[in-house]
Amino acid sequence: FNIHNVSLTISAASSKQYPETDMPEIALAGRSNVGKSSFINTLLNRKNFARTSGRPGKTQLLNFFNIDDTLHFVDVPGYGYARVSKKEREKWGGMIEEYLTTRANLRAVVSLVDMRHEPSADDIQMYEFLKYYEIPVILVATKADKIPRSKWNKHESMIKRTLQFDSTDDFVIFSSFDKTGLDQAWQVIESFVD
Ligand code: GTP
Ligand code: MG
Repeated sequence: FNIHNVSLTISAASSKQYPETDMPEIALAGRSNVGKSSFINTLLNRKNFARTSGRPGKTQLLNFFNIDDTLHFVDVPGYGYARVSKKEREKWGGMIEEYLTTRANLRAVVSLVDMRHEPSADDIQMYEFLKYYEIPVILVATKADKIPRSKWNKHESMIKRTLQFDSTDDFVIFSSFDKTGLDQAWQVIESFVD
């Protein structure tokens, strides 16, 4: 799984633009700057396919990435970015909600949280939203490279406790910098795809 054929199918703002296909989709959710685009790049073994940036709020639309004609990764704009207007936030909410609640192709959401910190109110709200709509969640605790291994257990427990994590969901400790959790992430994603 090292070499993948990847292309951007479409950047969509609403359901009218979603690709007409039966291919399964895995969407990414998480705070702005948590590392969603980096996660996709790491899984695809590409440097900057899904555009990453130190500037939060970079991803604006739903980006459908075709992976080997077998699935789409859907890169979603991050939430919790303070410097956007109320109007933009509402637009964002509408776009995400429409996608998550109506898209038949959606198999699971990779929900990313920063492993260093307690999940934010927004993180909790997103997790509760996904549970409410019975959308399978793959919880990815990222930026693990910033925490010493000896503290991983403590941080995992803290995140699970704060989210009231459902033990039937998958939990992956991940780093885009040193590729921690790369194989596990692919394994879990594949379990939802076929
Ligand atoms: P938006 O598109 O704005 O929502 O952000 P995003 O969630 O796509 O984040 P992105 O992948 O652009 O990464 C944001 C910043 O975090 C970049 O500076 C990345 O280099 C950094 N980053 C991402 N993943 C990791 C990681 O695993 N470890 C470390 N140390 N930094 C990371
Ligand atoms: Mg992004």
